[in-house]
Amino acid sequence: MKNNLSNIKKALNFLNKGQCVGIPTETVYGLAANAYSSKATAKIFKLKKRPKKNPLIVHYYNLKLLKKDCEFNKLFLKLYKKYSPGPITFILKLKKQSLISKNVTNNKKTLAVRFPRHPLTRNLLKKLKYPLAAPSANISTKISPVSKKDVKEEFGSKIRFIMDGGQSKIGIESTIIKLINKPQILRLGGIPKNQIIKYLNTKLSYNKRSNTVSPGQGKTHYSPYIKLRLNVKKPKKDEAFVMIKKRKQKNKNYFYLSKKNNLKEAAKNLYKIMRTIKNKKFKSIAFEKIPNIGFGEVINDRLRRASYYK
Ligand code: TXA
Ligand code: MG
Repeated sequence: MKNNLSNIKKALNFLNKGQCVGIPTETVYGLAANAYSSKATAKIFKLKKRPKKNPLIVHYYNLKLLKKDCEFNKLFLKLYKKYSPGPITFILKLKKQSLISKNVTNNKKTLAVRFPRHPLTRNLLKKLKYPLAAPSANISTKISPVSKKDVKEEFGSKIRFIMDGGQSKIGIESTIIKLINKPQILRLGGIPKNQIIKYLNTKLSYNKRSNTVSPGQGKTHYSPYIKLRLNVKKPKKDEAFVMIKKRKQKNKNYFYLSKKNNLKEAAKNLYKIMRTIKNKKFKSIAFEKIPNIGFGEVINDRLRRASYYK
């Protein structure tokens, strides 16, 4: 994370010229552009090969700029106070006078908004006169990037600049919560669902097979484009085997998500390890059973979607 100021200056320069820039966040790296500009946001869809109907998350520094774009409600303010900046995305009603490009929302009347916590990106957002539309910086349906190197691997020289913010601390995308009408979790992520339920002291619906509510959910996603087997006790020969906690025995096919069975640490390492395995040219990955609680539930969600690849 050397040379922060020149990092930010460069990013500002490219963004102000309507270019896309790779930005670090605590969840995963994003591919960012001016959310008010149709030209700039069109570039995101093209680079990611993302279907136009899949709307983008918009990143803000605080509520000041957001006030112009969205309607607030009590629940939103309560969650904002507790969890932002941080790994949570809110779906709010878009105001008629909002300047957000129609590309971002796919002409819908709602907007996904997030306040990332990573200091470099926060500093950048503070200096901008517009919010940043930024989906994860990967080609559509592939594994999300958690370092500058990962973003480079996805786009090569097609993007001009990536800010270097080190490895993402959470390593898995934000939790998405819809706050219009009945509150509903649309995507599991960086803040485990039960924590939010406990804090709000209310019921929250979540349909884990949903693939219509949040358009990016469902079908193959988060995939290394290698066959994936789940709940495996014994791997096959030549298969990469991913375990939740470190074992004493050494084997070049074995990979560990955490030192001591820690699910938060495991979530942080998930995409990094899947990318390493892909780059080592394994043809198949077996995952040990992961307990379905807290961050384990998030890991299992991503693995289930990645395992649709055949
Ligand atoms: O942690 C994150 O959220 C990362 C970092 C970069 O902020 N971003 C991210 O963006 O994961 P993306 O585009 O990869 O995933 C956003 C998801 C997609 O599934 C999209 O369909 C959904 O959010 N989404 C966006 N706008 C929506 C809306 N108005 N209503 C419902 N879902 C929406
Ligand atoms: Mg994504």
